[in-house]
Amino acid sequence: MDGENTKDTRNAENTKNAGNAGKAENAANAENARNAESMRTDPWESGPAYERYMGRWSRLVAARFTEWLAPPEGLSWLDVGCGTGALSTAVAEGCRPRTLLGVDRSEPFVRAATLTVGGGARTAFAVADAMALPVRDASCDVAVSGLTLNFLPEPAAGAAELVRAVRPGGGTVAAYVWDYGDGMAFLRHFWDAVATVDPAAAVALDEGRRFALCRPERLHSLWTEAGLTAVTTAPIDVRTVFADFADLWDPFLAGQGPAPGYVASLTPGDRDRLRTAYAESVPHEPDGSIDLTARAWAVRGVRRTSPARWTGQAGRSGRAW
Ligand SMILES: C[S@@+](CC[C@H](N)C(=O)[O-])C[C@H]1O[C@@H](n2cnc3c(N)ncnc32)[C@H](O)[C@@H]1O
Repeated sequence: MDGENTKDTRNAENTKNAGNAGKAENAANAENARNAESMRTDPWESGPAYERYMGRWSRLVAARFTEWLAPPEGLSWLDVGCGTGALSTAVAEGCRPRTLLGVDRSEPFVRAATLTVGGGARTAFAVADAMALPVRDASCDVAVSGLTLNFLPEPAAGAAELVRAVRPGGGTVAAYVWDYGDGMAFLRHFWDAVATVDPAAAVALDEGRRFALCRPERLHSLWTEAGLTAVTTAPIDVRTVFADFADLWDPFLAGQGPAPGYVASLTPGDRDRLRTAYAESVPHEPDGSIDLTARAWAVRGVRRTSPARWTGQAGRSGRAW
């Protein structure tokens, strides 16, 4: 009996120790997650700085994305997370919209978009949260979002807002995100360089780790789970050609978005070390230029006829329009 008791006591102790170890591990994980969260800054404050860092490339993707959507003229559009107006410009110039509303949480970006695309009877920009869009249910034909889903606190709730905004029975919801894991080369090289000089920051901040929603399978699931039908995805590749390393690096110093936000947090010495590591990691052409590819993944889907028939109902196939 004594032996049994001792075994029971040992088992109980083992269980307790395992429980304590598990709790310690959970606590450490939670602490790591808190540290990672506190290191993350996603500043969106200067339109010109964003344009130099990302807008010049996101504009190329936006134009290709609207070609892929190939919509008819005369639709009412909503651009969520419009930023400085990259996608709104492509819609205004390439899709002959009846109306276009762009919304973004950043007031300076909305101001920049208004200046670039222009306001007026048919086009408007407003400061608003993607999680609570300032539009009536079913009030537009197309709701789009460029490079923004990953920055929403709950992408699924953001997708539900996009769906709510378009008309049932044919309204289109479409978006694209960078392929942070692999295909967005200048960011991939950047975070790989960070990993060599500041591994903890790379673990916490690398957008390839941070943003799971950067692959076509995840986008497809998000759209399907949001109740959309005729869901398709496609890669959009654009060339990002930098005249020289300064043309690539200098926009990282202007603090817009996750990677430049991280650079802004560094001491001058750490920044120089990262600059050197980054310069060594990117391939240079014989003339000193840097010629890389940036891949985005696009997704589109169609809102079914009525919300009541969403579950289990095969939707319209093919085009929304
Ligand atoms: C990478 S930028 C993309 C901007 C633009 N669509 C483009 O393709 O260049 C991400 C944008 O999402 C906006 N954003 C982030 N969270 C948001 C939210 N909850 N509601 C509205 N906009 C948001 C930011 O202000 C920023 O303009």
